[in-house]
Amino acid sequence: MIIHNIQNCTECGACVKACSRQNFLLATSGEVSLQPQAADNCLGCGHCLAVCPVDNALSLTEYKNDVLEPLPSLPDEKATLDLIRTRRSIRCYQDIVPSQTQITRLLNAARYAPSGHNSQDFGFVVIYGQERVKALGECALNFYRRLVKILSYKPGRWLIRLFAGKGTFETLMTMTPRLKRHLAIYKETGRIEMVWDAPCLIVVHGPDRPDSAVNAVLAGYNIMLQAHAMGLGTCILGLLKEGLAHAGRGLKKTGLNLPPGQKMHMIISLGIPQKDLSFCKIPPRKEAQVTFLE
Ligand SMILES: Cc1cc2nc3c(=O)[nH]c(=O)nc-3n(C[C@H](O)[C@H](O)[C@H](O)COP(=O)(O)O)c2cc1C
Repeated sequence: MIIHNIQNCTECGACVKACSRQNFLLATSGEVSLQPQAADNCLGCGHCLAVCPVDNALSLTEYKNDVLEPLPSLPDEKATLDLIRTRRSIRCYQDIVPSQTQITRLLNAARYAPSGHNSQDFGFVVIYGQERVKALGECALNFYRRLVKILSYKPGRWLIRLFAGKGTFETLMTMTPRLKRHLAIYKETGRIEMVWDAPCLIVVHGPDRPDSAVNAVLAGYNIMLQAHAMGLGTCILGLLKEGLAHAGRGLKKTGLNLPPGQKMHMIISLGIPQKDLSFCKIPPRKEAQVTFLE
């Protein structure tokens, strides 16, 4: 993946220090060379390019058309913490769909999330418009309606405990009143609280592996912070995601068909917060639970 253009290299050795995989060697003669194992060993993280003080001494074939931007100035510590602390889960949206340009800017932030082995193995499906969002909400509700029904019978409870295990069974039992409330609100008002009348959703998906789930969630959180900085509101929709994950054929009918082997790792609602919703304080949080091993 890495191409080392020796004619442009000043042999400063910066790439040797930056490469965590030791793909570069600084010889005692002062010569910098790319190691033969680099082709298989390179993560494609681009750190060597980012520390190289000259242009065109190094390139990565995968990103050969990318223009490397100089580092921008960074927000200070307080501004960073303020952005993190003032982000809230937004559950009241205006009836306006964020523009596709805005969504592109959010997905751009997601691209810069860390990922295991720099795999960047996440993808996104943007569910655009309230009708489509509602269809997904109804699909999840249909699953939960069936689940609540099964859990209301003793043999159903017994079967779920047998097949899903004690832990999942107990979680489902504690969730049941909440699910019943969602179903009742829908029946009475047609409102699906699971999607909060959002005009847009972003589904973050990736391979069905624990590390890919972490990658997807980190990318999703980048989206949430960037959205907050842009005056947009987001909320993680865990209940919707679980409902859709078990919806089976119902999900296909909504048009949300992920490529084979891909799993939804996170669903984020997105929209412009309602004008009459404004936070003037930061909510309290628990103290960090920390153990220092000294
Ligand atoms: C894994 C996970 C699942 C969540 N699922 C939902 C959900 O289904 N519906 C919802 O309204 N909020 C959901 N949330 C948002 C949390 O309720 C919210 O982050 C928490 O109450 C703290 O509030 P804040 O995000 O405004 O700081 C979820 C958050 C996480 C991390």
